[in-house]
Amino acid sequence: MATLKFAVLPGDGIGPEVMDAALGVLQAACRKDGDELSYKICDVGGAAIDSCGKALPESTVEQCRNSDAILFGSVGGPKWENLPPNEQPERAALLPLRKIFKLFANIRPGLLYPQLTDASPLKSERIPEGIDIVCIRELTGGIYFGEKKTFEIDGEPAACDTMMYRKSEIERIADVAGKTAMARGKKVCSIDKANVLETSVLWRKTVTEFFKKNYPEVELSYMYVDNAAMQLARNPNQFDVFFTENMFGDILSDEMAVICGSLGMLCSASLGDIKNSLGLKFGLYEPAGGTAPDIAGKGIANPCAQILSAALMMRYSFGEDAIATKIENAVRNAVCGGIRTGDIAFGKTPVSTDEMAKAVIERL
Ligand code: IPM
Ligand code: MN
Repeated sequence: MATLKFAVLPGDGIGPEVMDAALGVLQAACRKDGDELSYKICDVGGAAIDSCGKALPESTVEQCRNSDAILFGSVGGPKWENLPPNEQPERAALLPLRKIFKLFANIRPGLLYPQLTDASPLKSERIPEGIDIVCIRELTGGIYFGEKKTFEIDGEPAACDTMMYRKSEIERIADVAGKTAMARGKKVCSIDKANVLETSVLWRKTVTEFFKKNYPEVELSYMYVDNAAMQLARNPNQFDVFFTENMFGDILSDEMAVICGSLGMLCSASLGDIKNSLGLKFGLYEPAGGTAPDIAGKGIANPCAQILSAALMMRYSFGEDAIATKIENAVRNAVCGGIRTGDIAFGKTPVSTDEMAKAVIERL
């Protein structure tokens, strides 16, 4: 029995619909164990720009600070696309949240059930067993957060972004990769561009020493990022856990998402070292997909990614591994049993967002 205190940031587009579905599943999953959900819904993204002129209001940050985790929907949409780039919902809400809560590790499971291989653009014979890999992305360093400048050279406009890493930043993400590998196949691939970039040379040296000292049992391999992009499309299951710096991870995680079929199935956890009031990791949990403005408000979006993100929150921030697994199995049983939203229907009659959530709840 515990009180689970988290901030709910549904955001824009399909965010609120899939969030409702996920909260219903969480409620049902926790009821049996006597856990109590204590959450506050806060504005973020375009919704917050409309209500108070800022994508990340101070009141929302405050609510997150007073919580043990953040369950995030998605932000952005055509309505706010003409704002200056640094005021747009995606950049003005997500990046500061990552920085404020020092969420340096983004963990995205790349999971495709064998029953859903049709959803992948890869030929089914390349992935007969589906896909089961994990992408770990450094999230608060590198070129995203290094010094930026716009200036002039010989009278013409120029700009620069700086990619910088310190050894300790590399070690802490390597540690997340090592722990993840130990809990899986004890195999990890570090992805860099050490044939060109100094940050990658330091990355590779640091990672090598770190694994030798701390994870001698883990088989460590290396790959250049261009090759990794190709290998991921050729044979994704050659990886088990791979990890990389911020921007390489941004690109590779989207590639992984598309080969895993529907974005509507993929969840993610962003974690740091900040402990919550339970002594566990504070984290932000969000689906990999976007706001899908084309289907927003229609009640047909796939809520599974949001539901699975809530399961990750149960595991990492609340230590409720059994409930997390129960939710994950229920989603798997529903989808593999033929309950499908439109994005993964493939000839089956599509169900609504609510019907999908109900099917998951029935299988808990
Ligand atoms: C992601 C997104 C963000 C990123 C954007 C919205 C700033 O693409 O979470 O991968 O680039 O990190
Ligand atoms: Mn991205």
